[in-house]
Amino acid sequence: MTNAAETDAQPKAVLFDAYGTLFDVHSVVELAERHLPGYGASLSQLWRDRQIEYSRLCSMSGRWRPFSEITRAGLRQAALRLKLALAADVEAALMAQYQALAPYAENAEVLRALCARGVRCGILSNGDRAMLEPLLRHCRFEALIDPLLCAETVRRFKTDSAVYDLGPRALGLRAEEILFVSSNGWDAIGATWYGYTTLWVNRSDAPLESLDTSPTRIGRSLRDVLDFFSDR
Ligand code: LAC
Repeated sequence: MTNAAETDAQPKAVLFDAYGTLFDVHSVVELAERHLPGYGASLSQLWRDRQIEYSRLCSMSGRWRPFSEITRAGLRQAALRLKLALAADVEAALMAQYQALAPYAENAEVLRALCARGVRCGILSNGDRAMLEPLLRHCRFEALIDPLLCAETVRRFKTDSAVYDLGPRALGLRAEEILFVSSNGWDAIGATWYGYTTLWVNRSDAPLESLDTSPTRIGRSLRDVLDFFSDR
Protein backbone atom coordinates (compact mmCIF):
# COMPACT_ATOMS: atom_id res chain seq x y z
CA MET A 1 0.00 0.00 0.00
CA THR A 2 1.46 3.35 -0.97
CA ASN A 3 1.24 6.23 1.41
CA ALA A 4 2.44 9.79 0.78
CA ALA A 5 5.52 10.10 2.97
CA GLU A 6 4.94 11.92 6.24
CA THR A 7 7.59 14.58 6.63
CA ASP A 8 8.40 16.64 9.69
CA ALA A 9 7.67 19.81 7.75
CA GLN A 10 4.26 21.31 8.38
CA PRO A 11 2.12 22.02 5.33
CA LYS A 12 2.32 25.61 4.11
CA ALA A 13 -1.35 25.89 3.14
CA VAL A 14 -4.58 23.90 3.18
CA LEU A 15 -6.99 23.26 0.31
CA PHE A 16 -10.39 21.86 1.15
CA ASP A 17 -12.78 19.95 -1.03
CA ALA A 18 -16.18 21.66 -0.80
CA TYR A 19 -19.15 19.29 -1.13
CA GLY A 20 -19.22 16.62 1.53
CA THR A 21 -16.17 18.09 3.27
CA LEU A 22 -17.03 21.67 4.20
CA PHE A 23 -20.71 21.51 3.24
CA ASP A 24 -23.10 18.67 3.97
CA VAL A 25 -24.69 17.66 0.67
CA HIS A 26 -27.23 15.61 2.62
CA SER A 27 -28.57 18.70 4.36
CA VAL A 28 -31.11 18.67 1.49
CA VAL A 29 -32.84 15.64 3.05
CA GLU A 30 -35.29 17.60 5.18
CA LEU A 31 -36.48 19.73 2.26
CA ALA A 32 -36.66 16.70 -0.04
CA GLU A 33 -38.63 14.79 2.59
CA ARG A 34 -41.10 17.65 2.91
CA HIS A 35 -41.82 17.64 -0.83
CA LEU A 36 -41.42 13.90 -1.46
CA PRO A 37 -42.38 12.15 1.80
CA GLY A 38 -40.58 8.88 2.42
CA TYR A 39 -37.90 9.59 -0.20
CA GLY A 40 -35.76 12.37 1.30
CA ALA A 41 -32.74 10.25 2.24
CA SER A 42 -32.78 7.97 -0.81
CA LEU A 43 -33.21 10.90 -3.19
CA SER A 44 -30.29 12.74 -1.58
CA GLN A 45 -28.05 9.66 -1.76
CA LEU A 46 -28.86 8.91 -5.39
CA TRP A 47 -28.60 12.59 -6.34
CA ARG A 48 -25.04 12.82 -5.02
CA ASP A 49 -24.15 9.49 -6.57
CA ARG A 50 -25.38 10.51 -10.05
CA GLN A 51 -23.79 13.98 -9.74
CA ILE A 52 -20.36 12.44 -9.12
CA GLU A 53 -20.85 9.79 -11.81
CA TYR A 54 -21.85 12.41 -14.38
CA SER A 55 -18.89 14.64 -13.49
CA ARG A 56 -16.54 11.75 -14.21
CA LEU A 57 -18.31 10.71 -17.40
CA CYS A 58 -18.29 14.25 -18.82
CA SER A 59 -14.69 14.90 -17.79
CA MET A 60 -13.28 11.63 -19.09
CA SER A 61 -15.05 12.03 -22.43
CA GLY A 62 -14.06 15.66 -22.88
CA ARG A 63 -17.73 16.71 -22.65
CA TRP A 64 -17.36 19.28 -19.89
CA ARG A 65 -20.40 21.20 -18.73
CA PRO A 66 -20.90 23.37 -15.64
CA PHE A 67 -21.21 21.54 -12.34
CA SER A 68 -24.58 23.24 -11.80
CA GLU A 69 -25.90 21.48 -14.93
CA ILE A 70 -24.41 18.20 -13.79
CA THR A 71 -26.03 18.67 -10.39
CA ARG A 72 -29.42 19.32 -11.99
CA ALA A 73 -29.03 16.31 -14.30
CA GLY A 74 -28.11 14.18 -11.29
CA LEU A 75 -31.22 15.30 -9.43
CA ARG A 76 -33.49 14.51 -12.39
CA GLN A 77 -31.90 11.09 -12.81
CA ALA A 78 -32.26 10.33 -9.10
CA ALA A 79 -35.99 11.15 -9.30
CA LEU A 80 -36.36 8.98 -12.43
CA ARG A 81 -34.70 6.04 -10.72
CA LEU A 82 -37.05 6.38 -7.75
CA LYS A 83 -40.00 6.77 -10.17
CA LEU A 84 -40.83 10.14 -8.63
CA ALA A 85 -42.43 13.00 -10.54
CA LEU A 86 -40.20 16.01 -9.93
CA ALA A 87 -42.33 19.14 -10.25
CA ALA A 88 -40.53 22.20 -11.59
CA ASP A 89 -41.00 24.14 -8.32
CA VAL A 90 -39.61 21.22 -6.27
CA GLU A 91 -36.60 20.92 -8.59
CA ALA A 92 -36.03 24.67 -8.27
CA ALA A 93 -36.30 24.52 -4.47
CA LEU A 94 -33.83 21.62 -4.22
CA MET A 95 -31.39 23.31 -6.59
CA ALA A 96 -31.64 26.53 -4.56
CA GLN A 97 -30.91 24.53 -1.41
CA TYR A 98 -27.56 23.59 -2.94
CA GLN A 99 -26.51 27.21 -2.37
CA ALA A 100 -27.65 27.05 1.25
CA LEU A 101 -26.22 23.72 2.40
CA ALA A 102 -25.30 23.39 6.05
CA PRO A 103 -21.63 23.36 6.99
CA TYR A 104 -20.56 20.51 9.30
CA ALA A 105 -20.77 21.63 12.91
CA GLU A 106 -17.05 21.92 13.65
CA ASN A 107 -16.00 23.58 10.40
CA ALA A 108 -16.32 27.28 11.23
CA GLU A 109 -14.30 26.82 14.42
CA VAL A 110 -11.56 24.88 12.60
CA LEU A 111 -11.31 27.42 9.75
CA ARG A 112 -11.09 30.26 12.27
CA ALA A 113 -8.40 28.43 14.27
CA LEU A 114 -6.34 27.85 11.11
CA CYS A 115 -6.65 31.49 10.03
CA ALA A 116 -5.65 32.61 13.55
CA ARG A 117 -2.51 30.47 13.22
CA GLY A 118 -1.69 32.16 9.90
CA VAL A 119 -2.49 29.10 7.80
CA ARG A 120 -3.84 29.95 4.36
CA CYS A 121 -7.07 28.03 3.66
CA GLY A 122 -8.53 27.66 0.19
CA ILE A 123 -11.07 25.50 -1.63
CA LEU A 124 -10.37 23.26 -4.62
CA SER A 125 -13.72 22.03 -5.88
CA ASN A 126 -15.57 20.64 -8.84
CA GLY A 127 -18.23 23.22 -8.04
CA ASP A 128 -18.69 26.33 -10.19
CA ARG A 129 -17.77 29.72 -8.73
CA ALA A 130 -21.40 30.80 -9.20
CA MET A 131 -22.51 27.91 -6.95
CA LEU A 132 -19.80 28.23 -4.33
CA GLU A 133 -19.71 31.99 -3.76
CA PRO A 134 -23.34 32.19 -2.52
CA LEU A 135 -22.74 29.09 -0.38
CA LEU A 136 -19.64 30.63 1.20
CA ARG A 137 -21.65 33.77 1.95
CA HIS A 138 -24.51 31.70 3.37
CA CYS A 139 -22.12 29.91 5.76
CA ARG A 140 -20.21 33.14 6.52
CA PHE A 141 -16.98 31.49 5.33
CA GLU A 142 -16.05 34.00 2.63
CA ALA A 143 -13.49 35.88 4.75
CA LEU A 144 -11.87 32.59 5.80
CA ILE A 145 -11.33 31.10 2.33
CA ASP A 146 -8.69 32.22 -0.16
CA PRO A 147 -8.20 31.11 -2.88
CA LEU A 148 -11.44 29.65 -4.26
CA LEU A 149 -10.25 27.32 -7.03
CA CYS A 150 -12.91 25.89 -9.33
CA ALA A 151 -12.60 23.06 -11.82
CA GLU A 152 -14.44 25.11 -14.46
CA THR A 153 -11.16 26.99 -15.06
CA VAL A 154 -9.74 23.91 -16.79
CA ARG A 155 -13.05 22.38 -17.96
CA ARG A 156 -12.25 19.05 -16.32
CA PHE A 157 -13.36 17.52 -13.04
CA LYS A 158 -11.43 15.81 -10.28
CA THR A 159 -9.70 13.44 -10.35
CA ASP A 160 -8.15 14.85 -13.56
CA SER A 161 -4.69 16.15 -12.67
CA ALA A 162 -5.48 19.42 -14.53
CA VAL A 163 -7.83 20.24 -11.64
CA TYR A 164 -5.39 19.27 -8.88
CA ASP A 165 -2.76 21.36 -10.74
CA LEU A 166 -4.74 24.49 -9.90
CA GLY A 167 -3.56 24.32 -6.25
CA PRO A 168 0.22 24.44 -6.65
CA ARG A 169 -0.13 26.99 -9.47
CA ALA A 170 -2.32 29.37 -7.45
CA LEU A 171 -0.37 29.02 -4.21
CA GLY A 172 3.16 28.94 -5.69
CA LEU A 173 3.91 25.84 -3.62
CA ARG A 174 4.82 22.25 -4.40
CA ALA A 175 1.92 19.81 -4.07
CA GLU A 176 3.48 18.05 -1.09
CA GLU A 177 3.69 21.39 0.74
CA ILE A 178 -0.10 21.68 0.51
CA LEU A 179 -2.50 19.72 2.72
CA PHE A 180 -5.50 18.65 0.66
CA VAL A 181 -8.51 17.73 2.78
CA SER A 182 -11.50 15.75 1.54
CA SER A 183 -14.25 13.63 3.05
CA ASN A 184 -14.67 11.90 -0.29
CA GLY A 185 -12.46 8.80 -0.29
CA TRP A 186 -12.00 8.90 -4.07
CA ASP A 187 -10.92 12.56 -3.94
CA ALA A 188 -8.42 11.89 -1.17
CA ILE A 189 -6.94 9.05 -3.26
CA GLY A 190 -6.84 11.19 -6.43
CA ALA A 191 -5.09 14.01 -4.57
CA THR A 192 -2.60 11.55 -3.02
CA TRP A 193 -1.79 10.17 -6.46
CA TYR A 194 -1.30 13.71 -7.70
CA GLY A 195 1.24 14.39 -4.93
CA TYR A 196 -0.53 16.41 -2.25
CA THR A 197 -0.15 15.73 1.43
CA THR A 198 -3.67 14.47 2.16
CA LEU A 199 -6.17 14.05 4.93
CA TRP A 200 -9.24 11.92 4.33
CA VAL A 201 -11.90 13.04 6.79
CA ASN A 202 -13.75 9.74 6.97
CA ARG A 203 -16.95 11.03 8.56
CA SER A 204 -18.99 7.91 7.88
CA ASP A 205 -16.47 5.27 8.95
CA ALA A 206 -16.26 3.95 5.38
CA PRO A 207 -13.62 1.40 4.36
CA LEU A 208 -10.59 2.75 2.52
CA GLU A 209 -10.95 2.43 -1.27
CA SER A 210 -9.32 -0.82 -2.42
CA LEU A 211 -6.76 0.84 -4.67
CA ASP A 212 -3.55 0.07 -2.78
CA THR A 213 -3.18 3.72 -1.82
CA SER A 214 -3.65 5.41 1.52
CA PRO A 215 -3.96 9.14 2.13
CA THR A 216 -1.21 10.66 4.27
CA ARG A 217 -3.58 10.57 7.24
CA ILE A 218 -7.16 9.50 7.91
CA GLY A 219 -9.31 11.42 10.40
CA ARG A 220 -12.91 11.57 11.57
CA SER A 221 -13.68 15.29 11.62
CA LEU A 222 -12.25 18.54 10.28
CA ARG A 223 -10.60 19.02 13.69
CA ASP A 224 -7.98 16.50 12.58
CA VAL A 225 -6.60 19.18 10.25
CA LEU A 226 -5.35 21.06 13.32
CA ASP A 227 -3.03 18.18 14.26
CA PHE A 228 -0.90 18.97 11.21
CA PHE A 229 -0.22 22.40 12.76
CA SER A 230 0.01 21.49 16.43
CA ASP A 231 3.28 23.29 17.08
CA ARG A 232 2.39 26.55 15.39
C1 LAC B 1 -16.19 18.95 -4.77
C2 LAC B 1 -17.09 17.74 -4.77
C3 LAC B 1 -16.84 16.78 -5.80
O1 LAC B 1 -15.23 18.98 -5.56
O2 LAC B 1 -17.11 17.15 -3.52
O3 LAC B 1 -16.46 19.89 -4.02
